[in-house]
Formats: sequence, C-alpha cells, structure tokens
Amino acid sequence: MKRQQERTKAPQHVAFVMDGNGRWATQRGLPRLAGHRSGLANVTRIAEALVERHVSYMSMYMFSTENWKRPKEEVVGIFELLTEWLGDTGPRLQARGVTFRHLGRREPLPGSLLEAIDYVCEGPPASGNLALGLAINYGGRAEIVDALRSVLATVQQQEIDEAAIAGALYTAHMPYPDLLVRPGGELRLSNYMLWQAAYAELYFSPVLWPDFDEEELDRSMNAYATRHRRFGGL
Ligand code: FPP
Repeated sequence: MKRQQERTKAPQHVAFVMDGNGRWATQRGLPRLAGHRSGLANVTRIAEALVERHVSYMSMYMFSTENWKRPKEEVVGIFELLTEWLGDTGPRLQARGVTFRHLGRREPLPGSLLEAIDYVCEGPPASGNLALGLAINYGGRAEIVDALRSVLATVQQQEIDEAAIAGALYTAHMPYPDLLVRPGGELRLSNYMLWQAAYAELYFSPVLWPDFDEEELDRSMNAYATRHRRFGGL
C-alpha cells in the first residue's frame, strides 16, 4: 500500500499572504499606498520566479472580507492600484504563461476592479505555466458559507461529503496549497484557506512582503523540502 508519508518534492501550489506593505512604507516615511504599490510589483516578481521554478499554482491573499474595516481612502487606493496592476501587468504575465482566477466574493467590489479581474481571467489561453489565484474580497469562513449554500442547493444531504464541499470552494480548480507562506512577521492565518490549508506546510517569514525576494522564496521552498508530510499517517 502506498504510504501517505510524502518525502517532499517541490510544492505544486504555494499560497502567499501579502502582509507588510504598510509597515514597509511607514519605515521609509512613505504613505501606506506606496507600500501597496511596491507589494504589487513584488507579486509580479514572485509569479515570474515561480514560473522559473516550475511551480504550477500560486495564490495571493490581497484583500480579505475583513479588510473593509480599514480607512476608506486606503481601501479605495488599494482597489485603484489593483485595477491598474491587473491592466498593466496582467498581459505581461499572461505572455509568460500565467492564467488568472478570482478567489472571493464579487459583491461589493467596485465595477472597475471587477472588469479588470474579468479581463485577466478571460485572457487568451496561456501555455498554462502557472495558475495564479487572486484572493480579493476573500475570507475562508465566507468561502465555506458560500460553498455550503451551493452544495445544499444541488446535493442531497446524505450525499454531502468532503469532495462535494471541496468542489464548491473558490479553489475548486486548484489543488490544495502544499506550502503557505506568510511574510511580515505575524504567526497566523487571518482567515486564509481555512479548509484548504488543513495539511499545508506553513512558513512564516519576518521579511515584509515588498522585500520578500527570490532568496527568501528559495528559503521557504528549501524549508518545505525538509518537511515530512504525513497527512495523519505514520
Ligand atoms: C491578512 O492579514 C493579510 C491580507 C488579507 C492581505 C491584506 C493586504 C492588503 C489589504 C493590501 C494589499 C494591497 C494591494 C494593492 C492588493 P490581515 O492584516 O488582514 O489580518 P490580521 O489583522 O489578522 O493581521
């Protein structure tokens, strides 16, 4: 019988929490939005680095269902930066074989941002090097609620199982994350991938996201390579 234990290969799906942009800017005497701009530039760099490392799936936690609590001008600024980044950088990443998916609730995101998201998600068929999940207005609990609503509408109660719920999550098209990376020094998930991260390997880095470079990425992937995944087995 195939043992559940897996001596680690490269991760197939790396999930990131985009954390530390605001502090990065404050440390430099810059407005927080300057940190968010640098953070987005770093998403581009890390996506390209993952293409080079033959990682097939990446997901990026960019705005949570709880981040609406932030000051309105920061929220509006984040959406404007995201809209601009998707329009400018989406095609560049698509040319590298990156495909996009939105992970999260559409409502109440502004129409201009939704158009930019749809534009990259409906982009030309790529060679499929890397599927990038954009977790925008994403919450792990909200996702489970949405999945349950959809499952209850289509599946008989006695047929509800883990596969039915997994198939109704925003991430249905992706494998679960193998490696979940949180830069920025905090040691928590903050409502990210609550279902999917059940057996993810966790990597917490003190480096703020805009400074999370290829060297730090390799550190996280090397740490992953030393882990023994047992999935509850021996
Ligand atoms: C989770 O921690 C982190 C996130 C959900 C990412 C938040 C990132 C932004 C709002 C800025 C992104 C900028 C752009 C331009 C996309 P948390 O801070 O939500 O939760 P915590 O309070 O538990 O740390």
